[in-house]
Amino acid sequence: MAKQILVTGGTGYIGSHTVVELQEKGFDVVIVDNLSNSKIEVLDNIEKITGIRPAFENFDLSERELTDNFFQKYPNIDAIIHFAAYKAVGESVQKPLEYYRNNMGSLMNLLECMNKYKVPHMVFSSSCTVYGQPEVLPVTEQTPRKEAESPYGNTKAICEDIMRDYCKANEAINCIALRYFNPIGAHPSALIGELPVGVPNNLVPFITQTAAGLREELSIFGDDYDTEDGTAIRDYINVVDLAKAHVVAIDRMLNGQTKANYEYFNVGTGSGYSVMQLVKSFIEVTGVDLKYKLVDRRAGDIEKIWADTTYGNNELGWKAEKTLEETLASAWAWEKNVRGL
Ligand code: NAD
Ligand code: WQD
Repeated sequence: MAKQILVTGGTGYIGSHTVVELQEKGFDVVIVDNLSNSKIEVLDNIEKITGIRPAFENFDLSERELTDNFFQKYPNIDAIIHFAAYKAVGESVQKPLEYYRNNMGSLMNLLECMNKYKVPHMVFSSSCTVYGQPEVLPVTEQTPRKEAESPYGNTKAICEDIMRDYCKANEAINCIALRYFNPIGAHPSALIGELPVGVPNNLVPFITQTAAGLREELSIFGDDYDTEDGTAIRDYINVVDLAKAHVVAIDRMLNGQTKANYEYFNVGTGSGYSVMQLVKSFIEVTGVDLKYKLVDRRAGDIEKIWADTTYGNNELGWKAEKTLEETLASAWAWEKNVRGL
């Protein structure tokens, strides 16, 4: 029988791409999402891609009783991929308690149910934000974590610690934290992708919305960083590559290949690109005449980060495959599809 995977936050950006990869590998998927940052229509588009409509439950995972009820209704879950969380860095500074309650509360409710309902495996969405600005680049899994810059970043560090401690206390529970670098791009079908509410904070959605005519001009935050062209450097990972890393992590747990019952991996490409390099690449790939200007640094931004992916590549047998060019092309194809261009 197909293994059944609970995907929390499965109608969201990374979750929806992971649902597609799981279904294509024959997993039976159940999504839980309260639609606080995604739309129900995503289910139609997942079905268009895979031919399968995933089971869907709409509730808030930070509600303990509702989470418990879910596991009574679905007694055969084999593993969980936990994406559901609030993720806006700036908003988390304004509303810290909402972020702590949602992100840590949901994780704790799920961990408790894993014990109670004998669901042994969880993959968790962590972030390279836990490294802050590292002294040595690229960052390995051994690079020390830094004190978080925002409540959002802090929820990721605390959630990692909660999993570590819970796994120590409960031998039967396995957790893998994946520390994503900067996920960008969309499914090659252009049927699912990132759909930010309001003005995008992240670089690539701002670029594609500017290219589509929704925004006047891109502001490049800072041209005086200690980098070759003065703009900040990140490790941009294609969202489909990232989704595949989750399937690999699930297989690792289901096949009993883990080396400890709490593990964590960097999930990036291993290459850093500057904002200016990315903008130029977008213009070249799409032929769009993107308007941009150089402005002051954005508060709280780090200068440069990219991943050392050696450990993850060797242990998981996973590697990012898509080029920056095809990833930017996919982001643009998605934006055009959304806007009917
Ligand atoms: P997203 O907002 O698109 O998806 C998250 C989904 O979770 C949304 O559909 C939202 O409705 C749902 N959700 C939130 N709180 C919930 C709750 N209490 N109960 C039920 N559903 C709830 O975000 P994403 O970009 O797909 O990110 C997924 C995960 O990856 C998050 O944990 C995020 O912090 C993490 N992450 C994202 C990035 C990034 O740049 N996108 C980078 C590193 C880590
Ligand atoms: C990338 C680069 C900006 C917008 C954030 C979170 C992080 C993680 C991923 C979840 C930076 C520059 C951006 C714009 C710009 N999320 N930029 N003009 O800041 O690396 O990471 O998302 O865990 O926690 O902090 O991503 O896409 O916002 O920015 O010049 O309009 O693009 O300054 O150098 P960031 P980003």
